[in-house]
Amino acid sequence: MSIHFPPLIAPSVLSADFSRMAEEVAAVERAGADWLHLDVMDGHFVPNLSFGAQLIKALRPQSGLVFDVHLMMAPVDPYLEMFAQAGADHIHVHIEAGPHTHRTLQHIRALGVKPGVALCPATPAQAVEEVLDLVDVILVMTVNPGFGGQKFLTSQLDKIRTLRRMAEATGRDIRIGVDGGVDVRTAALATEAGADMLVAGTSVYGQPDYERAIAGLRGAARQAV
Ligand code: DX5
Ligand code: ZN
Repeated sequence: MSIHFPPLIAPSVLSADFSRMAEEVAAVERAGADWLHLDVMDGHFVPNLSFGAQLIKALRPQSGLVFDVHLMMAPVDPYLEMFAQAGADHIHVHIEAGPHTHRTLQHIRALGVKPGVALCPATPAQAVEEVLDLVDVILVMTVNPGFGGQKFLTSQLDKIRTLRRMAEATGRDIRIGVDGGVDVRTAALATEAGADMLVAGTSVYGQPDYERAIAGLRGAARQAV
């Protein structure tokens, strides 16, 4: 088994106070976050805008956290180099963002960044089968991407189980991340199904005590069987 326990906790700055972003990033680093999740939205692939590579570049020297960049963009290829140069450690692209995900993932690797593939709720696990040899992370969306604070879709749990089996079959070390509506209750469900990375926006940045929130999510995780 290459599944890791406890899962990594990746607070999403989408729910942080944008007027104090550097402080908000430092605060979750002090509070025990493993990765920092950065949601980039283009107003086209998803019906919302967030921020771009400039913010990531500005935050990079201020933090030692792994920068886990989730690109909700189409097209995405013209911008990969920009995000790599801004300091992304991981770049997730959506399988739904275009017909050439295979090439996109190879390009990300060639830029020296760890590639991840994200799946919207309507997309079946099998859609990523042919690119599993190219990814370090699979990001399962448990909400329709575009907004923080939505309800976790339990319909995605079977997909997490299937993807965990598919990831194990490759013999490679692939993390399965879950993104959207993660709280202490759903963290238990997701990890039990095989997730070993949890993105958390509202359930960290919406709480008064970040350290407690992060430890709470980690503590709620269950070992997948
Ligand atoms: C949704 C983003 C998520 C979002 C999660 O489109 O990809 O990363 O920040 O927020 P919560 O944890 O509040 O659902
Ligand atoms: Zn995200």
